[in-house]
Amino acid sequence: MNILLLGSGGRESAFAWKMSQSEQCTNLFIAPGNGGTAAYGKNINLNPNDFEAVKALVIKEEITLVVVGPEEPLVNGIHDFFLSDAALAGIPVIGPKKEGAILEGSKDFSKEFMARHGIPTPGSRSFNGENLQEGLAYLENHSLPVVLKADGLAAGKGVLICQTTEEAKAELQLMLGGKFGTAGSLVVIEEYLTGIELSVFVLTDGDNYVILPEAKDYKKIGVGDSGLNTGGMGSVSPVPFADQKFLDEVEQSIIIPTINGLKKDNIDYTGFIFFGLFKVGDKPMIIEYNCRMGDPETESVIPRIENDLVELFMATASKRLNEVKLNISSKSAATVMIVAGGYPGEYQKGKTITGIDNIRKSLAFHAGTLAEGGVIKSNGGRVLAVTSLQDTFFEALQSATADAARIYFDGKYFREDIGFDLA
Ligand code: AMP
Ligand code: GLY
Repeated sequence: MNILLLGSGGRESAFAWKMSQSEQCTNLFIAPGNGGTAAYGKNINLNPNDFEAVKALVIKEEITLVVVGPEEPLVNGIHDFFLSDAALAGIPVIGPKKEGAILEGSKDFSKEFMARHGIPTPGSRSFNGENLQEGLAYLENHSLPVVLKADGLAAGKGVLICQTTEEAKAELQLMLGGKFGTAGSLVVIEEYLTGIELSVFVLTDGDNYVILPEAKDYKKIGVGDSGLNTGGMGSVSPVPFADQKFLDEVEQSIIIPTINGLKKDNIDYTGFIFFGLFKVGDKPMIIEYNCRMGDPETESVIPRIENDLVELFMATASKRLNEVKLNISSKSAATVMIVAGGYPGEYQKGKTITGIDNIRKSLAFHAGTLAEGGVIKSNGGRVLAVTSLQDTFFEALQSATADAARIYFDGKYFREDIGFDLA
């Protein structure tokens, strides 16, 4: 079959690497892809949010399965677009319709969904321009720190943790005044949790689900989790502090009520659900849903899945996930993200990358790269994800870190401590 994968990051490189290994995969197209994805299929330079361009490609290349990597086309309704078009309606799309993607597209909606279905999450209230005064009064009596979240998609920047009431009040006014554009015209004020974060993922066909390996993402730019937030500097899977008892509790108190809640609310959901969790004491709490896989979590999760990924997607599309038994490798995966100098602030692009062929025990999943005249150049903030799958957790960390050091470009930076806090 001919498959189209939408997206261009490290997550899509990991999907493409895995799908290209399937016997079911005749031709794989990645749109737009990056400097590495052409090794697994054919890159097509189009914007995944340009649905008419996606349609033209699907028809031209006789695509029979579409996998959507990032959230934006889902929140914008790409799945609905397929269903409403006579020529596309029969083509399965992995990724929810708008009504499901809103779990990520609106933090206010997701908090109400969690409350409605009794899913443990920190307390919160939402405010807009019309009840700003009430919001400011609410902050006066709120515990500190306090978390402010723009309701809509804000490219990962819409969450602020405020240490003082004054700061929180000023930020609430700035957010409602347009600091994050329309994404911030509604703001969720949430209780701050103290605990340790991890990510759990399911693939669901709306009725059945499979739980994928859990992962932990390292979000801060600096060693020891210091400095600015990034899209993610590395990941590990499995997560040593998430034992089976804890994961069972996640399934009972968070996953099952979510799947049942979607059904009760008549939201027919096909695709990934990413549960952003905190372990507070022994108990899981959820702080967010995403309607896609995480990046760089995917780079550690996918190599541990032994099943044929295309078959998994086909079972999802035909609501047969109950027939699937997931085989998860007992090995450990670690991913170290190599980023451009200056990231997550201003950074330079167009730097020539060398040494990718020198890595010994890892896979190099390209993220922000571009192939230009046989040379790989940097083309984004997060440039390459180096993933190592090894018998032990410690070996995986060591090999991924050692291999990240073998790749070079001007200004390159990576965290040398990914996962070692848990080893
Ligand atoms: P998000 O964009 O929702 O993933 O949030 C970004 C980061 O903010 C999360 O990864 C957490 O580290 C932090 N965060 C979000 N909500 C809370 C909360 N209620 N308590 C503590 N930290 C939070
Ligand atoms: N790594 C976090 C995310 O993908 O949102």
